[in-house]
Amino acid sequence: MNKSLRPAVIAGNWKMNKTPAEASALIAELRPLVADAGCDVVVCVPFVDLPAALEAVKGSNIRVGAQNCHWEKSGAFTGEISAPMLREMGVSYVVIGHSERRQYFGETDATVNRRVRAALDEGLTVILCVGELERERELGITAEVVATQVKVALSGVKAEELSRIIIAYEPVWAIGTGKTATAAQANEVCALIRGVVASLYCDKCAGGMTIQYGGSMNAGNAEELLAQPDVDGGLIGGASLKAKDFSVIVAAASK
Ligand code: 13P
Repeated sequence: MNKSLRPAVIAGNWKMNKTPAEASALIAELRPLVADAGCDVVVCVPFVDLPAALEAVKGSNIRVGAQNCHWEKSGAFTGEISAPMLREMGVSYVVIGHSERRQYFGETDATVNRRVRAALDEGLTVILCVGELERERELGITAEVVATQVKVALSGVKAEELSRIIIAYEPVWAIGTGKTATAAQANEVCALIRGVVASLYCDKCAGGMTIQYGGSMNAGNAEELLAQPDVDGGLIGGASLKAKDFSVIVAAASK
């Protein structure tokens, strides 16, 4: 399926940055800069920023996402946030399986799968993150690693739910390091992910899926990355904290 038929999505992952007041200010600055975007624009903010962000995006084309959710609807899980809580607030997207959660908070493919399931059950759109470590790339096992992550994360997900799944390919060695994957490397793995989705579901399902690249994407390199046939958008960390830089990436995806 032609790339132009898939929704291009540029999402900012703010990680643990910005207080609620700073979130309102950043969104206010961003709003006019992305008002004419030809792609979907999402900001994934810290949990405590969600009310301020939802208020700040009112009447704009910017959507708000969270950065994680638990797999249970409620219960004795101190410090966690559930998918029904996010839905009730008006949150529409949730990042699941980010490599920082895998690295620092014990996230596994199995828990990623449970969180994906919970988010879908509440009607949220999932930005599912996958990607290999530097060592895994050196060993030549990127394809196996990423395919396994995708297969486990999507287990129990029905074909009709795939329209609410975005997969973000984020090579761990490229995150926050300034070391971007080359456009060819990004496209190769995004295409591989599309092939895995095709093998699990169908060609049409895979052809319609938005697959993002993430990892040191910035105002200077976004255009080349986003021009790749299998790269349908970006998940942006550092550069999403600067309204101007983020808007340049949004403009590159709108071409
Ligand atoms: P950077 O853009 O800061 O490398 O972060 C990428 C990322 O992890 C987005 O989820």
